Parts: sequence; C-alpha cells; structure tokens
Amino acid sequence: MTDLLSVEGLTRHFGGIAAVVNLHFRVKEGEIFGIIGPNGAGKTTAFSMIAGSLVPTVGSIRFRDREIGGWPSQRVVHLGICRTHQIPRPFTGMTVYENVEVGMRYGGRRTPPRGSIADEIERILEFTGLSGWGARPAGSLPTGNRKRLELARALATDPVVLLCDEICGGLNPTETADILSLLRRLRDGGITILYIEHDMRAVMRTCDRIMVLNYGEKLAEGTPEEIQDDEGVIEAYLGRRSWMGRAEPIEERP
Ligand SMILES: Nc1ncnc2c1ncn2[C@@H]1O[C@H](COP(=O)(O)OP(=O)(O)OP(=O)(O)O)[C@@H](O)[C@H]1O
Ligand SMILES: [Mg+2]
Repeated sequence: MTDLLSVEGLTRHFGGIAAVVNLHFRVKEGEIFGIIGPNGAGKTTAFSMIAGSLVPTVGSIRFRDREIGGWPSQRVVHLGICRTHQIPRPFTGMTVYENVEVGMRYGGRRTPPRGSIADEIERILEFTGLSGWGARPAGSLPTGNRKRLELARALATDPVVLLCDEICGGLNPTETADILSLLRRLRDGGITILYIEHDMRAVMRTCDRIMVLNYGEKLAEGTPEEIQDDEGVIEAYLGRRSWMGRAEPIEERP
C-alpha cells in the first residue's frame, strides 16, 4: 500500500499550550489508522489541522503529492478529506435529508449528475441506518442517530480520506458495533480512515495500525498487537490494568 497522507513536524500552539508537537506519521491508502491517547493529548487538534479548520503553527501535511497544510477546510474537503466532529454539529433546524444534501451539494469532490442526488442521499441514509429518518429535524435526533448523521454528512462529500473523531463516543455496545461494521465496510470499499477513539476494544478490533499521542507528541505507533504490548503506552495511557480481555486485571480490590 502506498502512503496517502503524510504529516511531518506538525505542531500547533494555543498561546503557551503546545497541543501538538513535532508530529510525524504516514497513513497508507485503504487502512484504518487509529489515533489514541489521554484527554488533551492533541488528537482533535491534529484532525483539525488536517481538515483545515486550524492552521498549523509549523509543519507539513501532504495528501498524495500535494502540500495541504494551512489550506482552508472547504478546499480540503473538495480534495477528498472530510471529518466527523467529536460533538456532532448538524444543522439543527434542517432535516436529516437536507443535512446530507448540503454535504453533497457544497462539500463534494464532484457534483452527482442531475437527478441522481436524491438516489444518492437515500443510499447514504440507508447505509448509515437513517432510512426513515430523512424528514426528521436533525436537532431532534437521539445521540446514536446524531453520530450516524455525522457519518452520513461526511460520506455525502464522497471522501477519499475520512477522519472520524470519537464517532462511537456515548454509544451503547450494539450501536458501537454497528458503526464499527460501517467503518470496516467503508475501508473495504476503498476509503482510508483515520479514527480517534477511547474505546480500546473498538480500536484494537478495528484498526490496521495505531498511533498513540501523549502531551501532543507521538508516543508509539504500530499494529494493535504491538501497541498493546508497548511498555511506554501501558505506563502512560493504558495503565497497569489489563484490557482486551487478555488477562485478569492486575490491580485487585483489597
Ligand atoms: N481552541 C483551543 N484553544 C485553546 N486551547 C485548546 C484549543 N483546542 C484545544 N486546546 C488545548 O489543546 C490540548 C489538546 O486538545 P485536544 O482537543 O486536541 O485533545 P484531544 O486529544 O482531542 O482530547 P479528548 O480526548 O479529550 O478529546 C488541550 O490542552 C486543550 O485544552
Ligand atoms: Mg478530542
């Protein structure tokens, strides 16, 4: 697989806070690349720089052979990089259908042929499990469906690279499993996915490779197996508790 996205020396300061520091990583075409790390580690800030909603303080972001660091988000999305937000941001006064339509008409890489927009929107609503919800105001959706709508709006832009920021946050295990299965289907269909997540079971079962951030810096990168055995990652993020059901917790109650 070839590199689709490469990040070199990416840094972002907010006043005196270094949110992302000298970050380097490469994402291969067609993989699910997980990004994990404690709260405040800089995961969302990194996404925001790639998606164009934050300008890097310094550093390079290359998509294919093009430097896109500092590009505004509307230019980035037209190139085929689209994000979902950690906290869903639908147009609450519009219907679910209209929200997807906006993504398709104004965010898309290409304008679908006249007459096919409705079919394409229905296809996306069906894929994301929102069939039957199209006429509902987006502001009235329960959490699970708001997350689905985030995904649907992003898919409406026909992305090459999809940035998913805690798309399963706040969902129950069944809803999480449904979304993960959608991400795998998208990956198998050729979309490259960067996936920020705190649910370790979800990450380990879904990602092809994982990068760990801590205090804005890369702590480790590797396959799920490599990450779960990395002493530095266990110490800084995963703690001494066992996880993934591999063994009983080390810390026992007295
Ligand atoms: N717009 C902003 N202005 C000032 N500081 C910010 C801003 N956005 C993020 N930060 C700070 O940058 C650091 C990284 O935040 P970021 O949201 O990227 O972390 P995160 O890894 O996504 O965390 P979480 O897992 O809680 O979502 C934090 O210290 C945060 O307070
Ligand atoms: Mg975040």
